[in-house]
Amino acid sequence: MIVSASVSQSLASALAAALDEPLAATEYERFPDGELQVSVPGFDAERAIVVCATPTSDAHIEALQLQDAVREAGAREVTTVVPYLGYARQDRAFAAGQPVSVRAVARALSTGTDRVITVNPHEKSVSEFFDVPCSTVDTAGRLADPLPDLDDPVFIAPDAGAIDLADTVRDAYGTGETDHFEKTRHSASDVELRPHEADVTGRDVVLVDDIIATGATMAGAVSHLSDDAARVFATCVHPVLAGTARIRLARAGVEAVYGTDTIERAESAVSVAPAIAAALD
Ligand code: R5P
Repeated sequence: MIVSASVSQSLASALAAALDEPLAATEYERFPDGELQVSVPGFDAERAIVVCATPTSDAHIEALQLQDAVREAGAREVTTVVPYLGYARQDRAFAAGQPVSVRAVARALSTGTDRVITVNPHEKSVSEFFDVPCSTVDTAGRLADPLPDLDDPVFIAPDAGAIDLADTVRDAYGTGETDHFEKTRHSASDVELRPHEADVTGRDVVLVDDIIATGATMAGAVSHLSDDAARVFATCVHPVLAGTARIRLARAGVEAVYGTDTIERAESAVSVAPAIAAALD
């Protein structure tokens, strides 16, 4: 039985359809003190697949509650699908006294499940922080699906870490050049990029990254493309799109933003349900 957190309803429904498994009814309640309670009143199955992206702290709590609720209701086997793993970018202590936040989160999620499946985590090595088997699904190849017809395209990664992603999207699209920027992050919202080498004059540009959060990285990249590029598109696996990210990207000149449904947004043009269904088989 598929069990959906409030933040992953569309993906969980698509997964239920792909697997031909029932979708459990869920009830969400927030108490006056702010505490959450999610319940699965009709859950009745041996196997539970809990689907819960964790873009917020509340979503982390919901994931833990759903795991506990299905065990309480008699599930013998629990798989937790975390399509977007929040805190994954805090994968080391960058200064003395800092936590390895994703390790803490992974340990907590491990207590209520037999295995975890996640999608394109920021670093694949985060799977090692789980105390249960954790597999990662790569959906980068699907990011080319919603792109329009492009004119002599250049697929550009905003930093070296996304080069493979840009190559994968270019390969999936079928034609085009790839390039990348060199990025220096001064603060959460202040990012400096060294100009890339490809000549974008008159060409369509597709910026490719794993996550768009504040949009600072993408907007910074666009500002280094000069006005010579024909059109600029942005695509990512995880469309966090926090705060004023959309405005930032639109003002920078990005014509359209595409993402997947690891986080459910208006920009979620690609479903990762088929890839997750394949991983569950
Ligand atoms: C960082 O290395 C990631 O790949 C993304 O570039 C980053 O998380 C995007 O964040 P933002 O949109 O806030 O610049």
